[in-house]
Amino acid sequence: MDINVQELIKTALEMRKMSYTPYSHFNVGAALLSKDGQIYTGCNIENAAFTPTNCAERTAFFKAVSEGVKDFAAIAIAGGPDGSDPVDFCPPCGVCRQVMSEFCHDDFQIIMAKSLTEYKIVTLPESVPDRFGPKDLLG
Ligand code: THU
Repeated sequence: MDINVQELIKTALEMRKMSYTPYSHFNVGAALLSKDGQIYTGCNIENAAFTPTNCAERTAFFKAVSEGVKDFAAIAIAGGPDGSDPVDFCPPCGVCRQVMSEFCHDDFQIIMAKSLTEYKIVTLPESVPDRFGPKDLLG
């Protein structure tokens, strides 16, 4: 399917404004594209007890899955210090990669963006070469 990379990056950058990050002050936005063309947005949501913190990527995945959507094409991720544009590419953490491994196939694209023009794209197998997933339990 056609992936509008610019639209996904723009949405991820915008979603950084919604981040709740009183502890890290590191704002991450995500835009998850389903195979039926919808965009599910996410931001990171921190917690005083730290471990309940939810990353932007998982927020987007859980919103989509909770609405019955489980086929995904791509995700754009943009992260950086609160009050500033991203200074680096923000790779998904291991927990988020595991959630991607649950729902996504080898063609899933991870778009890490600093800006509309500075981004890099890797596929899920490039990001998680030897992933544990549904096939390991369900065959
Ligand atoms: N974070 C994300 O939202 N996504 C990532 O891929 C990396 C980390 C969040 C979690 C926490 O709120 C903050 O960034 C600092 O780790």
